[in-house]
This record gives sequence, C-alpha cells and structure tokens, in this order.
Amino acid sequence: MASTTASARRRFLAPVLAALLTLPGAAAALQAQTPAASAADHAAVRARHGMVVSASAIASRVGRDVLRDGGNAVDAAIATAFALAVTYPTAGNIGGGGFMVIRFPDGRATTIDFREKAPLAASPDMFEDSTGAYSAKIHHKSYRSVGVPGTVAGLALAHEKYGSLPWRRLVQPAVTLAADGFDMPPGLARSLAAVLPAMRPYPASVAAYSKNGTPYAVGERFQQPQLARTLARIRDQGRDGFYKGETARLIAEEMRRGGGLITEEDLARYQAKEREPVRGTYRGYEIISMPPPSSGGVALIEMLNILEGYDLKAMGHDSPAYVHTLVEAMRRAFLDRARYLADPDFEQMPLERLTSKAYAAELRKTMLPDKASPSEPAQVAQAYESPQTTHFSVVDGNGMAVSVTYTLEQGYGVKIVVPGAGFLLNNEMGDFNGKPGLTDSTGLIGTTPNLARPEKRMLSSMTPTILAKDGKLVAVVGSPGGRTIINTVLQVILNLVDFDMGIQQAVDAARLHHQWLPDRVDVEANGLPPATVQALEGMGYRVRLGGRQGTAHSIQIDPVTGDRIGAADPRDADAGAAGW
Ligand code: GLY
Repeated sequence: MASTTASARRRFLAPVLAALLTLPGAAAALQAQTPAASAADHAAVRARHGMVVSASAIASRVGRDVLRDGGNAVDAAIATAFALAVTYPTAGNIGGGGFMVIRFPDGRATTIDFREKAPLAASPDMFEDSTGAYSAKIHHKSYRSVGVPGTVAGLALAHEKYGSLPWRRLVQPAVTLAADGFDMPPGLARSLAAVLPAMRPYPASVAAYSKNGTPYAVGERFQQPQLARTLARIRDQGRDGFYKGETARLIAEEMRRGGGLITEEDLARYQAKEREPVRGTYRGYEIISMPPPSSGGVALIEMLNILEGYDLKAMGHDSPAYVHTLVEAMRRAFLDRARYLADPDFEQMPLERLTSKAYAAELRKTMLPDKASPSEPAQVAQAYESPQTTHFSVVDGNGMAVSVTYTLEQGYGVKIVVPGAGFLLNNEMGDFNGKPGLTDSTGLIGTTPNLARPEKRMLSSMTPTILAKDGKLVAVVGSPGGRTIINTVLQVILNLVDFDMGIQQAVDAARLHHQWLPDRVDVEANGLPPATVQALEGMGYRVRLGGRQGTAHSIQIDPVTGDRIGAADPRDADAGAAGW
C-alpha cells in the first residue's frame, strides 16, 4: 500500500497543485517536511513523531506545536480546532458543531458527538411561513436556521476525558492568533471577498471580516479582537466561557433581536456525547467511523461491504465497470440513508443490518452487470446539504489518531456574527427535513425520522474515519462536502486499499458522486476519460462533469518506517500538513 500506481489519468489537480505550492501558506507548511515518499506523493509531508493536516497551514502548525510540546493527538486536535475558528472561518468554528473519532494506540476507539441540537422551542413545522407554506429562507437563511452550537462542549469533553496538556495551553494559540492577527492568506482573502455581499445585512459580520466594508488584501494583517475576548473566556472558564455568562448572554440577545429560538437555557443544557464508533471491515482493514446522528459511517461501511464482493483493481480505476459498480453501491447506501438514519436518541434504526456483510450480499444481487438501476422519487427524496464543512487529521508520536470533521453548515454558516462576541453562528437546522410530509421531486424530504424536535440533533453526512490493519494504525481520513463527504471518504479508501496509491495521490485523484436522487453521476472536471463517460451514458447514466468534490486532509502511516505522511488536499488553497 505504500507504493503508488503509474496510472494518474484522474490527476486533474496537477496544474492547480503546482500553482498552490507557490503560495505562502503551502510553502510554510512544507517547511517541516523531509523528502516526499515518491514522485506521486509529490506534496506529502513526512514526519517521524506526529502530524496535523488541516484546511489552514497556520492551524496545522498550531496543532503540530502542541504535539512537539508533549501533547497527545486529542490535545493537538483541540488546539487545531480552536485555531481553525480564527484562520478558516468559513467552516472552522466555535458556533457550529461536528464529530471526533479517536483511536488509541492499543486499538480501542471512541467518538465524541458535538453535533448542534434543536432549541427547546423547535417543532417540525418551524420552517413554515405565516401562510403555512414551507420556506427555504426560514429553513436555511434565518435566525431560526441556527442550531444550539456544540463545538466548545465537544472539545471540552474530549479534553476532560482524553487530553493531557492544560486546557489553557490548547486555547491560547487561538486567542493569540485572533488578538495579534495573522497575514491574510490568499484562499481566505478570496473567500471573504466573495461572502461580503451576503454579510452586508449584519453589521457585526461586516466589521469582523472586512475593513469597514472593504475586503482584506492578501498579506494584510487580519485581527479579530472580539473573537479574541470570547476565546479568552473559553480559555479561562472552559465550556462555561461559552454556554454561560457573557457569551451565552450575547448569543441569546442576538437571537431575541433577530427572531431566533435559542435561549440561555438551551445553551446551558447542551451536552456533547461520547458514542461507540460504527465499525466495519474491508479486505482485512478495520474501518472505524462516526455513528448517527451522522449517516457517514453507516453509509461508508454499507458501500464498502457491497464493493468487497468485486475485484475493483482488475476492473481498472477509470473503467466503465468500476464506475458502474461504485455508483450502484452509492445509490443503494444513499437510499438507505434517506429511509432510516437520524438522531439515535430519538429514532430506532437497523444499524446492525445496514452494516452487515449479509445485507451487502443481498444488495449485490440487485445490481445489474452493465446497466444503471433506476432511482425512484416515490421511494423517498433528498434534502439539501451544503458542501462547506472542514475536516482535519492528527496522529501523535504514540500512534493515537484523531479524525475531526466540523462545520457551520453553509460557508460562514448563517453569515451572522454575534455582536460583541465576534464569532459566526451556524445554519445547521437546515439539515433537518423542511416540513412534515413535504417530499417532492425538487429534492425536499418530509419523512419523519429527521424532522426537527426539541433537543434533537439533525442528520449529518460527516464521516471522520480511521483505518487500521492487524492492530496497527493505517490512515486517518475525512472530508467536507455535504452528502458528497461519504463518497469522498469512500474513494480515498478505495484508492489506498484497492489501487495501491500513496495518500497524496489518493487524495489528489479526481472523485465522483451519486446520491440516489437526483439520479446523476457528478464527476470532477477531467475526472474520467471521454470513452468511459460515453460507455456510462450507454448504460443509462446521466453524467455531469465539472466542479470539485471535498477536501480530504488525510494522514497515512508508512508501514515500513512508521513515518506519518500528511497529505493536504490541494483543493483547499490555504491548506497544509505540519509534522515533526
Ligand atoms: N452540514 C453538513 C453535514 O452535517 O453533513
């Protein structure tokens, strides 16, 4: 698995990557590297002791420094998460939520669920307007779209149970970054300029992320003094610095002002939860991933179980047979996702069956050798999920591994910065179904399991995942991308296991997505040879080429040397791997 294949036809990213490596963020991230593993692992960062890979090279270095100071992977993940809230505000956050999967050096594993929850005043019909009609605006772009944030509680729980360095040491770098500022990286400059029009209705957002309404230029010093004060309260008071006192008061006041539902009571009641991971196996590899309320781990294992019955390598990476088999596995897992998955504290789900080899064998029997299966809207429909989330991976010197995906839902969440507190609120309530019974061909879903209810967590697709083999850590993977997350993680794993790619090549390779409905295969630009696209169309597939899918910041362990090989995904302009 350490070697790479010569086949690089799907490496549509090569020119992008060459350009990105000239950027300051990427260059800085390469400082700590020793030579890359191979020609194909061109940008991979190797280190002996520990590695952090995230969407922000600055945040990766914060995590790396924690490892170098003797912190474990959970410590480094906490510090990286707080730093990302400063340096990657499109998805790094303290006002959102997410999931952490931890594998300990002895092979045990656990997860921390810090998904946002619905406020106490939530109800299934809360996204209807005054006429009783479903309103996408209320669902996705209003104060009602804000879920009770979980990130600070999740990081605090992870620290209490598994951290080793003092909490202050982990939060302080983010306080310093916000207070002293940092040089505006190119990706963030572009992204903030693009989001500015959507932030205009919210003066606190414009104040936080522009110079009185003018976008920051690359290299300008970017300071966030209000955020620094909020982070300092979290540093000094732990979770109470967010869920009680000044920060809670500022959030609740802003909610009252804008017609939102979150109260100080909602904030005080929020609890992160430790949950058993969902586990599977694939060709002898152990797969450890996130259980519901994320659909990610269950769908991933269902797809891997189906695919285990085929010789994918013999089919060839870009062949019509491979893409057909992959897409049919995706179609079936996404149908089950829509049918069954939701918050486990509210709904019963057939998880054992969905992740069993026997069920996969049944599903394989329904797959036609050379023809697309139909997806029928009457079976169930899908809801929208935003691609703006972020994933990061950490491995420490003892082999403890942490895989974290967290989010504000859409890029910059609901675009509302809490006045006086300097951080963005999520719009995660948009991941609940919009209106009971409203299931239609535009993609709305109204089935019961994922309707909003007081204190319920909305269904997610986040798939932070860890691979092991023969008791040894193999890789840490994950991605943002809404529902495409699950398929991105799947393809990184297939690239590693079936196609013998190194981690950087596995991450760089073009990806594709099918989610049952709409019945369409989305393929990244230049992701498949024209002959394959033609053959797929002949089998009955609708293929759409273009765009990009996910950013899978990952780590692989070199099976021979034990080196940590960090692969930042070049689809994120400011990303970086930092090791020591
Ligand atoms: N908001 C995206 C997800 O949770 O999957």
